[in-house]
Amino acid sequence: MSAERRSVIRGTGSALPKKRVSNAELAETVDTSDEWITERTGIKFRYIAGEGETTATLAADASRMALDAAGMKPEDIDLIIVATATPDQTFPATATKVQHLLGHHGGVAFDVAAVCSGFLYAIQVADSMIRAGSAHNALVIGSETFSRILDWEDRATCVLFGDGAGAVVLSAEEGGNRGVLATKLHADGRHNQLLYVDGGPSTTGTVGKLRMKGQEVFRHAVGNLAQVLRDVLQEAGRDASDVDWVVPHQANKRIIDATARKLGLPSEKVVLTVDRHANTSAASVPLALDVAVRDGRIREGHLVVLEAMGGGFTWGASLVQM
Ligand code: UT7
Repeated sequence: MSAERRSVIRGTGSALPKKRVSNAELAETVDTSDEWITERTGIKFRYIAGEGETTATLAADASRMALDAAGMKPEDIDLIIVATATPDQTFPATATKVQHLLGHHGGVAFDVAAVCSGFLYAIQVADSMIRAGSAHNALVIGSETFSRILDWEDRATCVLFGDGAGAVVLSAEEGGNRGVLATKLHADGRHNQLLYVDGGPSTTGTVGKLRMKGQEVFRHAVGNLAQVLRDVLQEAGRDASDVDWVVPHQANKRIIDATARKLGLPSEKVVLTVDRHANTSAASVPLALDVAVRDGRIREGHLVVLEAMGGGFTWGASLVQM
């Protein structure tokens, strides 16, 4: 019997726009305060893309870092998936622009649209293709420029989001213990109207702006995330006490804390970056993962669980042996 083929995280990377904006700076133009934003969300700063910075350029920068960390070159990659809800253009896929920016023109490249859960969806697709033998080395990227779909007149949403990108190199490995152990994904389209963009190519012909019923999203988030975390652990035959690190979607510190509490996971095991990045949608999980890998918290051998929930609704979790 041949050894099981798994997808191993070989390297991580991330990228942020040059411009960082504090709550106090935001309060100069938006009717809000540092106190309100900090208390309700835990956010202190967000990065906002400037001229020349796009979802594709941020994704390419994060990818170069992940390739470096993996000791690999663009020509080693045969699959690029970009999870994004803010593509550079309606088409072509941002992933093909990333491939072009990296300067190697081969393999497969496409985008995945699952909003804040997009990175988890992309991991599942890449892992399935790697296990099936149709890909060997994948760049899985979450990249967003939500600042460009925010209504800056709507203080209930514009203070919550930021721009950025995170990337991982996933490679096939046979016979080891490392890799993606299990992923669980969900979608429930009954909740389309709680978090959406009010435009699109096939409806208004415009890009549209983000709209959210924050309180209702909040209510669903904690329950859904706690359940999917339990499910992914059960699928892999592991217990919450086995987990070394939780890397959650960084939407709101209160959601992150409440979810961890439900599972009995101590806050010391939770990677928190919402204070410095705000909510970067599909980029938030790989960005936080890269931060904790680079500062030495997450190391080879650690059991890490990634989780996210967002528009759709979509939600999911992935258990990874680093
Ligand atoms: O990434 C996808 C998943 N997204 C999420 O997980 C987001 C989930 N939702 C949330 O994180 C929270 O619901 C929010 C942070 C969006 C809002 O927090 P909240 O505690 O649910 O506040 P709220 O919407 O109930 O608003 C409370 C008050 C309102 O005033 P009144 O009606 O009580 O007088 C708002 O008008 O806060 C007011 N408010 C603000 N005040 C100052 C809303 N936005 C602001 C603001 N600054 N930026």
